[in-house]
Amino acid sequence: MSELVLSVDKLVKTFRKPFSRTKVEAVRGVSFEVQRGHIFGFLGPNGAGKTTTIKMVTGLIAPTSGVATILGKPSTAPEALAPVGFLPENPYIYPYLTPREFVTLCARLSGVPSAEIDAAVARSIERTGMTYAMDRPARSLSKGMLQRTGVAGAIVHDPELLILDEPMSGLDPVGRKEIRDLIVEEAEAGKTVFFSSHILSDVEMLCDSVCILKRGEVVVSGSVHELLDAGSRNAEISLTDVPDELAKDLEGAAERSRRVGTSLVLEVIGDDNVRATLQKALAAGARVESVSPKRETLEDIFVRKAL
Ligand SMILES: Nc1ncnc2c1ncn2[C@@H]1O[C@H](COP(=O)(O)OP(=O)(O)OP(=O)(O)O)[C@@H](O)[C@H]1O
Ligand SMILES: [Mg+2]
Repeated sequence: MSELVLSVDKLVKTFRKPFSRTKVEAVRGVSFEVQRGHIFGFLGPNGAGKTTTIKMVTGLIAPTSGVATILGKPSTAPEALAPVGFLPENPYIYPYLTPREFVTLCARLSGVPSAEIDAAVARSIERTGMTYAMDRPARSLSKGMLQRTGVAGAIVHDPELLILDEPMSGLDPVGRKEIRDLIVEEAEAGKTVFFSSHILSDVEMLCDSVCILKRGEVVVSGSVHELLDAGSRNAEISLTDVPDELAKDLEGAAERSRRVGTSLVLEVIGDDNVRATLQKALAAGARVESVSPKRETLEDIFVRKAL
């Protein structure tokens, strides 16, 4: 049976700029639910309100209204965060600490029993590929190494729910793959992972569900499989010998169009539009070069809905 691990209900955050009466409505009634064992992607352009929502969920800032509930407890209750591992956006790691010391501090703060700390620290540092640099001070580490150290700190107490604000940011392709693998391993072990990202291919590959924000509001929400499936009835139609008048008409009706040599290539959404385009083209004496199904990617959905 599915179990709700995180539930966000009509969260609102309005910032007031100091010394002026202007307001920034960063989050405007965001709601979503995350099921146990799922990997949930939180998307949106810069400034959409992802980090602000995450800060409310993790109790770093108070909502203007609305509630977030973690495993049945309001996120404002101190005990609600015990089963949560959190990677903030651009994690700050004291420059004089080594990854081993930083992750040990995280383990202590999150209540790992003393006898288990050394093993837990070594294991989470190993899982983030930082063992080779675990005794170097943070000030000498690269951005990606600091990011990996932040992830190691978030997982050291084996949390039920991992909340990661842009975990792949600053990582090289190998680092990104390692973090993807780590997220999958967490989900396979029954843990729940909620993360924000701008890397849509990673989200498409990993996530069960997504929520896309635009200017503080949810514009897309649901299972990745269903969202991509719904967009699968698109087709790319390549035509030649298209009379000018018809070309204009078809280009206007298509989602996207381009000219390739003497061909007109149209991207058309939905069975009805595909049929209508082909009928018009054939009736006007155009030649159909090809019709190929085109599966919509998460990036297509993002561009269509969030920009
Ligand atoms: N402390 C603050 N005071 C005033 N405005 C703020 C504050 N924090 C965030 N904002 C504003 O709230 C909006 C949402 O910002 P937020 O950091 O949540 O976006 P984001 O989706 O995480 O963006 P990014 O992808 O760039 O990380 C922006 O307009 C931002 O300027
Ligand atoms: Mg952010």
